[in-house]
Amino acid sequence: MDTAPKKVFVRTYGCQMNVYDSERMRDVLGPLGYAETAVPEEADLVILNTCHIREKAAEKVYSELGKIRRMKRERAELGAEMLIAVAGCVAQAEGEEIVRRAPAVDLVFGPQTYHRLPQLLARRKEGGRAVVETEFPAEDKFERLDDNVLPRKSVAAFLTVQEGCDKFCSFCVVPYTRGSEFSRPVEQVVAEARRLATRGVKELTLLGQNVNAYHGLDGQGRSIGLAGLVAELSRIDGIERLRYTTSHPRDMTDDLIAAHAENSKLMPYLHLPVQSGSDSILKSMNRGHTTEFYIRLVEEIRAARPDIALSGDFIVGFPGETDDDFESTLNLVREVGYASAFSFKYSSRPGTPAAESNKQISEKEKSARLQDLQALIHAQQTAFNEAMVGRSVPVLLEKPGRDPGQLVGRSPYLQSVHLQADLSLIGTIVDTHISGVGTNSLSGHYPHAV
Ligand code: 5AD
Ligand code: SF4
Repeated sequence: MDTAPKKVFVRTYGCQMNVYDSERMRDVLGPLGYAETAVPEEADLVILNTCHIREKAAEKVYSELGKIRRMKRERAELGAEMLIAVAGCVAQAEGEEIVRRAPAVDLVFGPQTYHRLPQLLARRKEGGRAVVETEFPAEDKFERLDDNVLPRKSVAAFLTVQEGCDKFCSFCVVPYTRGSEFSRPVEQVVAEARRLATRGVKELTLLGQNVNAYHGLDGQGRSIGLAGLVAELSRIDGIERLRYTTSHPRDMTDDLIAAHAENSKLMPYLHLPVQSGSDSILKSMNRGHTTEFYIRLVEEIRAARPDIALSGDFIVGFPGETDDDFESTLNLVREVGYASAFSFKYSSRPGTPAAESNKQISEKEKSARLQDLQALIHAQQTAFNEAMVGRSVPVLLEKPGRDPGQLVGRSPYLQSVHLQADLSLIGTIVDTHISGVGTNSLSGHYPHAV
């Protein structure tokens, strides 16, 4: 195997699962001699880890490929090679089509195959044709990851525990690109969490497209839900904080809600997308729940953990959405009160049922609705952040900030907090007096002084 020193540039698009996958790709490439570079021009291998969730995200990849093709040509003129790889969900969804549209691409591989990267690279070097690998192999990619390859040292880390989705919301490509639901066995997850803890990780965010549908097997072959997994992970020395994302309202079980009341390591933050506040739209989205169900659920969660920061996802301009439907979404947002939320214009995705609808909404209407919704969400987010001022919150210090002497950490509610503190405190949790609010972050003082 060729292990001469080389450089890899990885660009990650889309969700946190892709961030995790990119990290694992870097791990797999390390033993082949690849060191990471932030400069694509000097890379021997460029990987775009792509997202297919909305059309804009997918198109970005093609415009990026245009730029990278030029870099590849410039390197070739200097006698150096550059391999171009497209990974992730665009790779999974478009496969060969990518090579047709962008012939400079050498490798195309889906999210289930990144552990095979060394073999794929070897195949590419042998043969003249681009290698396209978008099978969903039966083998477990997680098992194939080398235990000896250690992740980068950081205070907070992602850990994928579940992949794929069986919900088939009518707008969404995930069930097609990531496949059906799969949960990693409990012991495998615990082992990875332990490894991360020994590397100094204090906060774990458990990832899954539908993470609260987690149902991994334990050592005795019993199926364990997310609440059980959280309980198991919270017993690991060194792990101080746990989070999970993204959840579906229908999988928010009673024991998971109870864990928010009982487990002090489980942070009071929950991303619980509802997508729309209109029952008829929720029905055509095939969400499997009503607004009433969602609102009752939020009440139960708040009864368990009154200070929980709620976040969500919304789609505006779904086919057939009337002014009244949209008004219902605004009303739901007003009723729930979010600490933050993401909102998107509906984007028609080939192969999904909603793309077939003849009731598509105009771009102009979508933009107007998005603007209104985002203004409301922004106001709620600002109010949530401002309510922190004057309070003392435990902040996990993660890394140096931009200003001299500054550190950046996170509050339990996932807010970034900037404060002056000594570098040696990175990795510890300090009670911080919150004194100010920026656009997307808080500022505070430590030691706690009122
Ligand atoms: N158009 C717009 N937004 C979408 N999402 C998923 N599919 C689409 C689509 N076709 C949003 C949903 C989901 C988030 C990850 O992306 O809100 O929760
Ligand atoms: Fe997509 Fe719906 Fe599954 Fe979320 S629950 S990944 S929106 S199909």
